Amino acid sequence: MFKPNGLNLLCLLSLHQVAYLLADNLQSAGPLEDKVFYLEEGKVGPQYLYRFTFQPPTSSVRLTGETDSLIEVTPKDGVLIVKGPLDWEYKTQYSLQVEGLDQNSKRVQGPYSIIINVVDINDNAPQFNKSRYFGEVRQHSRAGKPFMYVTAFDRDDPSTLHSNLSYSILHQFPSTDKMYFQIDNVTGAISTTETGTKNLDPTIRNDFVLVVTAKDMAGQSINCFATDTDVSITVLENVWKSPPEVLLMENSTKPHPMNITHVQWNDPHATYQIQPIEKYPIELPFTVDQNGTVYVTKPLDREEKDYYSFSIFANDEEGDSLAEPVTVSVRVVDINDNPPVCDEVLTKFEVQENEKVGNLIGIVLASDNDEKGSLNSRLKFRLLDQNPKIPQDNLFRIELGTGSVHLFKSELNRQVAKTYYLEVNVTDSVFSTICKVQIQVIDINDKIPIFEKSDYGTVIVAEDKKKGSLIFEIQATDADEPHTGSSQIIYTITKGDPNNSFTILTDPNTNIGAIIINKALDFETNSVYNLTINATNPEPLVTGIKYNSNSSTFLRVHVANVDEPPVFLHPNYIVMLDENVTIGTNVTTVKASDPEGYPIRYLLKKNNRNWLKIDPVNGHIYTAAPLDRELNHTYIVEIVATEQSRPSKSSVVQLILHLLDVNDNPPHLVNETVFLCHPLQRDKSAKFEIADRDSEIPKFTYSLIGGLYEDNWIISKVDDNHASITPKNLELEEKVYDVPLKISDNGRPPMEAVVILEVNVCRCVNDRCFMEINNPNPFPTVGATIGILVGVLLVIGVILGLVFLHMERKKKNEQNITPVAIRPSELNALT
Ligand SMILES: *[C@@H]1O[C@H](CO)[C@@H](O)[C@H](O)[C@H]1NC(C)=O
Ligand SMILES: *[C@@H]1O[C@H](CO)[C@@H](O)[C@H](O)[C@H]1NC(C)=O
Ligand SMILES: *[C@@H]1O[C@H](CO)[C@@H](O)[C@H](O)[C@H]1NC(C)=O
Ligand SMILES: *[C@@H]1O[C@H](CO)[C@@H](O)[C@H](O)[C@H]1NC(C)=O
Ligand SMILES: *[C@@H]1O[C@H](CO)[C@@H](O)[C@H](O)[C@H]1NC(C)=O
Ligand SMILES: *[C@@H]1O[C@H](CO)[C@@H](O)[C@H](O)[C@H]1NC(C)=O
Ligand SMILES: *[C@@H]1O[C@H](CO)[C@@H](O)[C@H](O)[C@H]1NC(C)=O
Ligand SMILES: *[C@@H]1O[C@H](CO)[C@@H](O)[C@H](O)[C@H]1NC(C)=O
Ligand SMILES: *[C@@H]1O[C@H](CO)[C@@H](O)[C@H](O)[C@H]1NC(C)=O
Ligand SMILES: *[C@@H]1O[C@H](CO)[C@@H](O)[C@H](O)[C@H]1NC(C)=O
Ligand SMILES: *[C@@H]1O[C@H](CO)[C@@H](O)[C@H](O)[C@H]1NC(C)=O
Ligand SMILES: *[C@@H]1O[C@H](CO)[C@@H](O)[C@H](O)[C@H]1NC(C)=O
Repeated sequence: MFKPNGLNLLCLLSLHQVAYLLADNLQSAGPLEDKVFYLEEGKVGPQYLYRFTFQPPTSSVRLTGETDSLIEVTPKDGVLIVKGPLDWEYKTQYSLQVEGLDQNSKRVQGPYSIIINVVDINDNAPQFNKSRYFGEVRQHSRAGKPFMYVTAFDRDDPSTLHSNLSYSILHQFPSTDKMYFQIDNVTGAISTTETGTKNLDPTIRNDFVLVVTAKDMAGQSINCFATDTDVSITVLENVWKSPPEVLLMENSTKPHPMNITHVQWNDPHATYQIQPIEKYPIELPFTVDQNGTVYVTKPLDREEKDYYSFSIFANDEEGDSLAEPVTVSVRVVDINDNPPVCDEVLTKFEVQENEKVGNLIGIVLASDNDEKGSLNSRLKFRLLDQNPKIPQDNLFRIELGTGSVHLFKSELNRQVAKTYYLEVNVTDSVFSTICKVQIQVIDINDKIPIFEKSDYGTVIVAEDKKKGSLIFEIQATDADEPHTGSSQIIYTITKGDPNNSFTILTDPNTNIGAIIINKALDFETNSVYNLTINATNPEPLVTGIKYNSNSSTFLRVHVANVDEPPVFLHPNYIVMLDENVTIGTNVTTVKASDPEGYPIRYLLKKNNRNWLKIDPVNGHIYTAAPLDRELNHTYIVEIVATEQSRPSKSSVVQLILHLLDVNDNPPHLVNETVFLCHPLQRDKSAKFEIADRDSEIPKFTYSLIGGLYEDNWIISKVDDNHASITPKNLELEEKVYDVPLKISDNGRPPMEAVVILEVNVCRCVNDRCFMEINNPNPFPTVGATIGILVGVLLVIGVILGLVFLHMERKKKNEQNITPVAIRPSELNALT
């Protein structure tokens, strides 16, 4: 008997048609017996279902059971009639009995069971549980996170599509280019779309109305019922936002962890999680508790780090974040916790005897680590002490705000004092530090430096001379007091070197000036430098004396051309290539040029595998042999560029060829032999490893080849690169079996290999396989020996002899009997 499969509408329809045919034509007739009928609900008017036929002694039939005064059978004709419409929603099945009666109304047949199943038609529209829905959503809620549900139901048969509802949004008011809201067609969950999450803003518009439709027939038929409902949505402000920047005093003495600010998700029950934004070398000194209170865990040091910024996530119960994280910024406020520091332990100045009152002698330099530009790092300078105080105190004055020292009295005299020591009190608003100053009184600077030559002529320098090399020495002398600013000489190139190709360093003891190459020279750019060099003192000259031509000299530098090797355009060449490219594939083109413009030739060196060739003239590099990543995945060769006529002038760069993997190797067995103990046991298997020379670790698939092997063995996968073999036939004897396997990798395209796994079924002691190394053909086992003894009496002597012989040899060779095998992993597999 066929039963209606509610989900299979087609099947159902054909069933109905059958029922119609039966009813309409009354063709269907048959003897009294158990029957089941299917009848669609809602049919108006009497329907003839079936005619029961009968012969005497039965002369009439009778129907009993749930007839509901709707179902009857004509007693004489035996016609089963349904008089009015059935209703599935009221009753889905009628259970009746029919019996055959004789002339005396005595039962002679039956009773037989008659079941009438009512078949549902889609005659109910979906209904929403509420006439109107109200919902609230926070601005910036995570897209797709439901904030409300609508539900509808349909009274039709739940096992059919008639009550399978699908939800959709018909309209959104006000409408927007892209919908702000979406509904889950199955659950009725309403959430915001990505667009909605971005654009919803209660200050612009806080109320929306959605018209939501529920359709039966899973919404997939035009012959379905649909019902609408209105959903009013209020958009609420989002309290999940970044708190204002926190100002935190450094080096706080308050107890820690210290509450500094607070974040709050829109609803309770969120959990909070802190995450650094920048990379900190140290652990982030902040935490957040489950109420959203943010704490600093220890006193901070502004001089170490003055600004922190981190994210806080609000997560739901599953740990998924509810929205974008908020950012908390903490600025560490400076307190004056750093004293001023003198730049020099002893600051040294020089002053000439005849220095004018008010002239600047020098500046005392000090610094403070507290915040720049704040009062905490503002320094003040005060003169504490002058030593000696002759001819009087206060010969010098220091400016409070800058630390610049000026001459205050014009009473310097080298006969009275050659050196003065000052103590300067440098203070910020809290701390003070004493900086020491030495002032040396020097002779007046009334002599100018005089060059030993007014023209040094020409010096020739090769263009490839290294930067920093000495090219020439010059000398001027000064008759003022030695080792003071009046006699020290500063050499300056005043003309002829616009690009500062040279510098001149002065030896403080001899005043010799060393001319040094400051920037690489190049004959091709500039081959002659006409240098004018002036010599001066660091101290000013006394009035009336001036530098003149005696403190000026000339030097010509001729740059000599050197034949330089060719120069490559790039310091190296890196190329990636599939390993399976055809021979002759272009790899790259290199280019070098010769500074002198001579023609160039290219060649390759360290081309160990001869995989590459280069065109000597134009620098094209191409493949000359099949490449193989598995042989060498990074192939490094040297490219040499030489001058055609002078091969000694050459440059070398590297070509680094990265080969990209192509699946061109079939999988193989790492070890072809496995061991299993004899007699075989069903739960003992042996593991073996498969490898693939291609780079990725492939996933392998295995199969046995041939029915014979399938009867004896089972191959099963252990992990990505291991499989195990288990005996199926436990009767297999002790020997080595060659089991062919087909292994494929999952590369594109896949590679497949047929390999032979040698399964050594061997005699074991303590689960270890033993083999007598001297004895490749083992002697008969004891059992076999007995068989032979019983069977062939005649050869007893021989056999015994053999056994004894064997035992003899065994004794002799005791040391030679070695347990063979078996890596520990295989032992594990055996046990
Ligand atoms: C909706 O109404 C139907 C019928 O009254 C009921 O079975 C169902 O539980 C209701 N669903 C909800 C979510 O209230
Ligand atoms: C319901 O939604 C899913 C995914 O959004 C879609 O694949 C499916 O076709 C929809 N079903 C109906 C009946 O619209
Ligand atoms: C912090 O303050 C204490 C006392 O105010 C001071 O001794 C200490 O040096 C300060 N630490 C830092 C790192 O500034
Ligand atoms: C954190 O500090 C704020 C402001 O001082 C205060 O209102 C709040 O109660 C404190 N929270 C906790 C958990 O101490
Ligand atoms: C969170 O707040 C509640 C109520 O104010 C308080 O009882 C609880 O201790 C707080 N939890 C934490 C971790 O501070
Ligand atoms: C330096 O000046 C500060 C502030 O005026 C003062 O407190 C301190 O005593 C002075 N130091 C000395 C050594 O006089
Ligand atoms: C450099 O000096 C020489 C001779 O004094 C002169 O012939 C030449 O033109 C000068 N060159 C430059 C670039 O000034
Ligand atoms: C270099 O010395 C010469 C000769 O005294 C003078 O004419 C010229 O101005 C000086 N150049 C500079 C830059 O001082
Ligand atoms: C190299 O291998 C890839 C992937 O297997 C294939 O698509 C390509 O055609 C091969 N190239 C050559 C030159 O064989
Ligand atoms: C390889 O390079 C040569 C020289 O530039 C060029 O003629 C040829 O077309 C290139 N071949 C390919 C396949 O790009
Ligand atoms: C791969 O090539 C590099 C450089 O060409 C060489 O140093 C290395 O030994 C090679 N490796 C193998 C496995 O051949
Ligand atoms: C394979 O297994 C045998 C026996 O355990 C062992 O002697 C041999 O060294 C193994 N070979 C490899 C390549 O691991």
